[in-house]
Amino acid sequence: MKKILVEYKSIFEKQLQEILVEFNCDIQPIFEALSYGIANGGKRIRPALCYLGAEFCEKDANYVKNLAVGIEMIHSYSLVHDDLPCMDDDNLRRGKPTAHVVYGEGMAVLAGDALLNMAFEVMLGDKTIDTNMLNAIKYIANMSGINGMIGGQCLDLANESKENFGIEELTRLNRLKTSCLIRGALVGSAIRCGADDKEIDALETYAQNLGEIFQIVDDILDRTSTAQALGKEVNQDVANDKKSIVDILGIDKAKEYIKVLEEDTIAKIGVYGKKSQNLIDLCKFLSNRNN
Ligand code: IPE
Ligand code: IPE
Ligand code: MG
Ligand code: MG
Ligand code: MG
Repeated sequence: MKKILVEYKSIFEKQLQEILVEFNCDIQPIFEALSYGIANGGKRIRPALCYLGAEFCEKDANYVKNLAVGIEMIHSYSLVHDDLPCMDDDNLRRGKPTAHVVYGEGMAVLAGDALLNMAFEVMLGDKTIDTNMLNAIKYIANMSGINGMIGGQCLDLANESKENFGIEELTRLNRLKTSCLIRGALVGSAIRCGADDKEIDALETYAQNLGEIFQIVDDILDRTSTAQALGKEVNQDVANDKKSIVDILGIDKAKEYIKVLEEDTIAKIGVYGKKSQNLIDLCKFLSNRNN
């Protein structure tokens, strides 16, 4: 899986550069700040999920190019804003100082806004746009919005200092703030590629679980890893008074929880046999990731 992700990352970086130059923006400060926000350094998991969605439907990475770039723009904007002093107040992202540290808060807000708008310009600007593509974009808009990632970020802010915050609240939060963009990437891509309703349902379940696993691992790594390994500051959840799975279950039980989710996810998507093999491998890989 690691090899496939490296390959997908290099496909993505090329697609991103091709699309960025098309913008031809001569207002240098904003273009520089937004380019910094999406620059190389991220794991590019969401574009990889777009490509895997295409592969599941027997299409290739080029067929979902504009969705892959669009969703990573949305994800990167969410990180630029997530790091702001009024949110998680982080100084390090993808191994570099955060956008607001380099360009100032105002410009970081604009860079995030710009990436969000560009995402929809890119996706709607696909030269081969059809009804499936429009439905995919609508799905991604929904997954990014108030009933999706933004809703989750809202609950995350409200989680600060909250006493009665248990596993149910946390699951709801993780599904919104993290699973939704992961669903946007994988299911959005499958919609674009003409997957049938049964396949969409199976991929939604897979992506929802994968997002939960991804965020639980993130929360564990926040306590157990280093800034050098992650490319972002650690112990941020405690610093921001945010309750995570580690406070609710402890590290060992949280790891068992991941294992249960992982097995359930693999069993469910496994009914698709060979065509789900890479999704199975990705789930195992992300359950055991250490950065
Ligand atoms: C970070 O996402 C935010 C979470 C949902 C935990 P990633 O860990 O995918 O960040 P990058 O894109 O690789 O920097
Ligand atoms: C996910 O949560 C952030 C978004 C959905 C944007 P975190 O706040 O835990 O992500 P990191 O740890 O800053 O990457
Ligand atoms: Mg956050
Ligand atoms: Mg954060
Ligand atoms: Mg985190």
